[in-house]
Amino acid sequence: MVKILSESEVEALVSVEELFDKVAEAFKTLSLGELLMPPRERIRVEGFGDILLMPCLAQSLGVFSLKVVSVYPRNIELGLPTTNAAVLVVNPENGVPELVAEAKALTGLRTAAATALSVRYLARRDASRLGIIGCGYQAGWQLKITSRVMKTEQILVHDLYRERAERLADEFRARTGIDVRVCLNAQELVEACDVIITATTSKTPVVWKDWVRPGTHISAIGAYTPEMAEIDPRVLASAKLVVDSLKAAREEAGDIIQAVNAGLIRWDNVYGEIGEIIAGRKPGRLREDEVTVFKTVGTAAQDAAVASILLSKTRSR
Ligand SMILES: NC(=O)c1ccc[n+]([C@@H]2O[C@H](COP(=O)([O-])OP(=O)(O)OC[C@H]3O[C@@H](n4cnc5c(N)ncnc54)[C@H](O)[C@@H]3O)[C@@H](O)[C@H]2O)c1
Repeated sequence: MVKILSESEVEALVSVEELFDKVAEAFKTLSLGELLMPPRERIRVEGFGDILLMPCLAQSLGVFSLKVVSVYPRNIELGLPTTNAAVLVVNPENGVPELVAEAKALTGLRTAAATALSVRYLARRDASRLGIIGCGYQAGWQLKITSRVMKTEQILVHDLYRERAERLADEFRARTGIDVRVCLNAQELVEACDVIITATTSKTPVVWKDWVRPGTHISAIGAYTPEMAEIDPRVLASAKLVVDSLKAAREEAGDIIQAVNAGLIRWDNVYGEIGEIIAGRKPGRLREDEVTVFKTVGTAAQDAAVASILLSKTRSR
């Protein structure tokens, strides 16, 4: 019988150590061409929203997973979440569906793991000040997971809506005891932080080149369509630019697509995929003063990574 897991069950079953290991493995096998990951299918439901289909066959992880994500902006008026998701997990050896799980926490976990891995390979080792621009649903996950891979001494947060930044700061400070402060503008945050996460729904840059100090690492998780962008293209032009999947980035990474279209960079300026760095095929950060940018649009491979953890935990129950 297919097992069903709620958001809280998913959260309880996934340990941070396993999450890092499996997401790292997924990125590595993706870059080595050992995963089957068809492009994300975006189905527009006229007048309502988008439904995204994200399949991945990851035989080394022992799963086929299919995540269905819906983004319905008008749900706010109905008192419903704007983003909803569930994942179906099938045993690739016999084709039997074994698990269906709610997938908002899964998405938060695997997206935060991507940022954390980028910090591990691309940020300075002495990075201690973490900043996040955009304090919505993803932000809590990003801070929770990323603060564990740095010597986090202080966190700065900023949002267009000050109350969202204050809510995140209050919750995170209370939960962890870390010094978390609200910045009223993005510039102040960018100038002060060693690691900056952008997790907005913005269509125009929230990080500008003149603000970025040498040695900064940026993880840009927000933009996932060609029309969206969070990072000044001049930052991308002068940084070591790493992506989750080059194929997906060409289709969806608005920040890079717009910079290429403006003639500021070429696709061969992209240094590589995070999986190539994890696999040891390319070095990560080489100099203290390098600016590094990890642009992630989110991949089904990361979903498969968490799905494999859920499968192993529920099989052994
Ligand atoms: N890369 C991935 O794998 C991945 C995974 C999940 C979500 N996402 C994307 O990440 C983004 C954030 O997701 P979420 O669920 O947290 O969304 P959300 O709507 O809950 O939060 C976004 C926040 O960004 C703020 N914001 C928007 N524009 C801003 C600006 N110019 N300056 C400062 N703050 C601004 C909003 O006020 C809001 O609080 C979305 O675009 C989402 O699609 C990416």
